[in-house]
Amino acid sequence: MSSDSDFGQIQVGIIGGSGLYDLDGLTDVRRLNVPTPYGDPSDTLVVGSLAGVQVAFLPRHGRDHRITPTHVPARANIHALKSLGVRQVISVSAVGSLREDFRPGDLVVPDQIVDRTGPRRGTSFFDGNVVVHVPFGEPFCTRLRPELVNAARAGSPATVHPSGTYCCMEGPQFSTRAESELYRSWGLDIIGMTAVPEAKLAREAELCYAGLALVTDYDCWRADHEDVSAKGVAAQMRENSAAAKASLATLIKSLDVDAECSCHGVLAESVITPLSALSD
Ligand code: ADE
Repeated sequence: MSSDSDFGQIQVGIIGGSGLYDLDGLTDVRRLNVPTPYGDPSDTLVVGSLAGVQVAFLPRHGRDHRITPTHVPARANIHALKSLGVRQVISVSAVGSLREDFRPGDLVVPDQIVDRTGPRRGTSFFDGNVVVHVPFGEPFCTRLRPELVNAARAGSPATVHPSGTYCCMEGPQFSTRAESELYRSWGLDIIGMTAVPEAKLAREAELCYAGLALVTDYDCWRADHEDVSAKGVAAQMRENSAAAKASLATLIKSLDVDAECSCHGVLAESVITPLSALSD
């Protein structure tokens, strides 16, 4: 996967989720079509300067939210960011809460994922004739995560939870109450539809990747709250998006964009297929 860019060094990628379709404060903005071997990304990439850092922004579901979680072209999205030279990715998403003390309006920087998606998502760049097993015990970059926690705390008045396990379900329907209770009994903290395969692909692409999850609802497990609805998620996201944008702006200002990280060298230890077999 090449990482050359004709547009100067673009170091940071931001993937926006439901309710986050743009970024505040970007200057010198250009819209780029970035075709990839995996097809087109979700939308044109918006490239610009934020606090002097070149940033590429991509709305995961498209600018007008037409792409379902199942059909998000995650391989194209990650490939496009990598091809622009991006080394660090922040992924913003709306999530439901599976516990009382993670309230709508709160921000969570998850540290773990449980994958409950189905078999319809392309989850690897390596599904041809080369076998690669990347480590995924820590699905988010352990260097970038604390930086994001600090930035969210400094940049926004929202309550920020510094860890949490993200249950990634297939959707597009929300969970049944029995499923929601099952996930709670497993100790999972938040639920969404998009961290997988994005996080897996970011690891394979040797990108640092951290998630900023915006709590919009209590899913359907709380008798004293309305069950999650798409309308309710959208309304809460209109309130949460300012906190997300403020957190991102603070992060970009403090981020070491040239930081070396073990994420960037992960493939060297991960290819099983002998090199001699690859040259055949
Ligand atoms: N996104 C926002 N809220 C959600 C929920 N309760 N379940 C799955 N995805 C969500």
